[in-house]
Amino acid sequence: MSLASEISLRRTFAIVSHPDAGKTTLTEKFLWYGKVIREAGHVRAKANRSYTVSDWMKIEQQRGISVSSSVLNFPFEGCYFNLVDTPGHQDFCEDTYRALTAVDAALVLIDSVNGVERQTIKLMDVCRMRKTPIITFINKMDLDGRDILELLDEIESVLQIQTCPFTLPIGYGKSFKGVYCIADNTFHMFNKEEGKQEILQLNVDDPKLVELCGEEYIKEFKGRYDVVTQAMEPFDKEKYLAGKQSPVFFGSAVNNFGVRQLLNAFANISPPPMPRESDIRLVQPEENKFSAFVFKIQANMDPKHRDRTAFLRICSGSFERGNKVLHCRTGREIRLAAPTSFLAQDKEVIDKAYAGDIVGINDPGLFNIGDTFTEGEKFKFAGIPDFAPEFFARVTLLNPLKSKQMGKGLTQLSEEGATQLFSALSSALPVIGVVGELQFDVLKHRLENEYGAEVHLDKIPVFCARWLSGDNKKQEEFAKEYKGDCMHDKHGNLVCLFPNEYRLNLAVKNYSELEFSAVNAQ
Ligand code: G4P
Repeated sequence: MSLASEISLRRTFAIVSHPDAGKTTLTEKFLWYGKVIREAGHVRAKANRSYTVSDWMKIEQQRGISVSSSVLNFPFEGCYFNLVDTPGHQDFCEDTYRALTAVDAALVLIDSVNGVERQTIKLMDVCRMRKTPIITFINKMDLDGRDILELLDEIESVLQIQTCPFTLPIGYGKSFKGVYCIADNTFHMFNKEEGKQEILQLNVDDPKLVELCGEEYIKEFKGRYDVVTQAMEPFDKEKYLAGKQSPVFFGSAVNNFGVRQLLNAFANISPPPMPRESDIRLVQPEENKFSAFVFKIQANMDPKHRDRTAFLRICSGSFERGNKVLHCRTGREIRLAAPTSFLAQDKEVIDKAYAGDIVGINDPGLFNIGDTFTEGEKFKFAGIPDFAPEFFARVTLLNPLKSKQMGKGLTQLSEEGATQLFSALSSALPVIGVVGELQFDVLKHRLENEYGAEVHLDKIPVFCARWLSGDNKKQEEFAKEYKGDCMHDKHGNLVCLFPNEYRLNLAVKNYSELEFSAVNAQ
């Protein structure tokens, strides 16, 4: 198969949802359809044995949350899917934002009972910024959920995207009868028993529909059908690809209902790998030469071996196992000795991968998030955001003999991107910054368990952090005056932690020659 054909079969997407909407359940069904797990229920069964497919870290099990993103590769109907999982907990949203930079499309999963929830709104903002094409799945139709026209209206107004239902439910809750597929006039009958979910070719006016579903539900359905087909805009692929219109599907993940339709939609209408901007030019996926960037670094996927994996999104060309590539930031040549694909905890060494694919490579401690790899050309892929931490703490080591271990741990964990490390001007104690407070707990836990360094974290009350730039002399002057609040980030940039708005305004007024930036100005 030609390079272009291989690439055109790739679909790389992420699921965006609020915790509990059913992402784990849906992922499990995807894997079942991809025939990479033998029985649906596998992931859940594992969960009952105290871990789930995407739970790698002990802390996740203790708290019952998904802390780190995982990547799953699976085939479906001739396509190759790369599903970039995203942590649901809001304190790890940074990781999720970064995961969204590695995909070409997203699935927005909405709970039919709760409607659009907070975390989904936040993540949708990132999708909108990146103009990511979105498909929506309204889950838990087997429960007494909200009125579906109301739900569609809420998606349109809150998530600011036009909706275009591809299917419509008939009945809901205990009386959920199934979904009607508008494009091909088929009725997909709901049955909790797998394998008994029949698909019937039936026109909306076919009396058999009334026979199967009951007059009351068909009347209600027809009302919605008329609204959708007469008053709503029909599907427009251009609009979908521009992130302006979202096809909507209804179903029930736990009952494996409506999931195949969803995967078919990804196979049929979702974009194959898209071109990507770099600092010098637009990189096309079909280019012969390989290029990729690191969007995630994760340690301890296998607790038995102290390892660190860098996740690469391949942006152009292909590579074969053993190929040498250029690590653009350091100029070093790296051999991709054992690139892996993932089925969560099960890694598999692969021989070949193409643009669109997400693979893991062993990171000997060399790589950073955002690093670009190429076959020789020097450039850097754009668009890997850096987030300004909102919470800060001073780190005190409890056993002074472990200072080397703590230093190593703090550096490595900051390279993974979950925390940012700073050195204060007025004290030898390192300062860490995080986007969500839960990351403090993770840091403490990991320093202790992985590096043997027990630490105490002293939270610093901060109104906001500002990166300073501008005239060097003025910066020095500023650093002298605000020494107690100033620190350097890992690039040596000056950062000031302001305890209140008054101090910030005063500094901005007195140092008008300097720029005070809320984002990391690296
Ligand atoms: P998450 O990863 O998005 O956090 O959600 P997850 O899949 O863990 O699902 C959250 C809960 O919602 C689970 O119930 C799951 O069984 C349930 N769920 C998922 N899809 C559906 C659906 O279509 N209908 C109904 N009625 N429930 C659904 P739980 O009680 O928290 O866990 P469990 O005891 O089922 O494992």
